[in-house]
Amino acid sequence: MTYRIVALPGDGIGPEIMHGALQILEQLSDRFNFSYTAESHDFGGVAIDNHGTSLTDSTFQACESADAILLGAVGGPQWTDPHNRPEQGLLDLRQKLNLFANIRPTTVTDGTSHLSPIKEERVKGTDFVIVRELTSGIYFGQPKSWDDHQALDSLTYTREEIERIARVAFDLAQSRQQKLTSVDKENVLASSKLWRSVINEVAQDYPDVEVEHLLVDACAMHLITNPNRFDVIVTENLFGDILSDEASVMPGALGLSPSASFSSEGPRLYEPIHGSAPDIANQDKANPFGMLLSLAMCLRESFNQEEAASHLEQTIYDLVRQEKTTADLGGQYKTSEVIQFVANNI
Ligand code: IPM
Ligand code: MG
Repeated sequence: MTYRIVALPGDGIGPEIMHGALQILEQLSDRFNFSYTAESHDFGGVAIDNHGTSLTDSTFQACESADAILLGAVGGPQWTDPHNRPEQGLLDLRQKLNLFANIRPTTVTDGTSHLSPIKEERVKGTDFVIVRELTSGIYFGQPKSWDDHQALDSLTYTREEIERIARVAFDLAQSRQQKLTSVDKENVLASSKLWRSVINEVAQDYPDVEVEHLLVDACAMHLITNPNRFDVIVTENLFGDILSDEASVMPGALGLSPSASFSSEGPRLYEPIHGSAPDIANQDKANPFGMLLSLAMCLRESFNQEEAASHLEQTIYDLVRQEKTTADLGGQYKTSEVIQFVANNI
């Protein structure tokens, strides 16, 4: 079988890290004997520049018929039209492909716990996954409008939308430490009241999973004071966006965190959690590990290449321990040098 990959390098540091990921992918395919095709498409700001829109029909069609999508990052200060933003392409792609489940793991390895903004003794051993609902909530709720005097966003959730993300999270918790934290703002928001009751209903089907409910503000605090207590966290779109950025710096640098998004069927999308970092773009400074760890997730989850995925992850964690990294992880190497270290080990 030949896996069909669509690469969307995007903006800022996206093209540099994607270039590295495709190089490593080629080497992994030789070493672990699998075949693939990869085609790159404009997406985000670069697509606005070249085609007038962040997600063209042809890019969407390529994504739709791919086996998996690798995404670098989108956005940058040069795209200022609020009606035509690079980020809109990403939101459209998520919605059109129905990528409702976003999986964002946070793993603090021994090699990086000293770099964490949280005290080492607190953060050591932290290993949890945020399951973020990705295609509903205030990001997509209608009506949505703004003018110079007033702005309107709508926060809606249906029972079905909550139930399907809950099942993803419960299944994941079952395969891990059987502990699920559901995060909402039930003391204020109507959507959170429905959220909590649906979570409790679904919990009936998973008697082996221990469930706790946390308000989002309390969760933000517990993540800092006691990150070790979490196993799987499930939450709605906007809370998940915010909490996953908070979580993503725990391993020492934002540049280390991968993510995967999926629907019930169809291609999955893999991207690092970090953004396009326009301030360091084209300077050979970007940390390529978040992109490479996203590639590892892709190999494991979309293509069942467990061996290649673990080898890549192990290589990265070894390099982190040896400080053969970019500056954000305490090393003194350029992006291209770090990619070469990875390549040498494959
Ligand atoms: C993310 C990003 C996106 C989001 C932006 C780029 C629209 O912050 O993937 O977390 O808010 O979902
Ligand atoms: Mg975000």
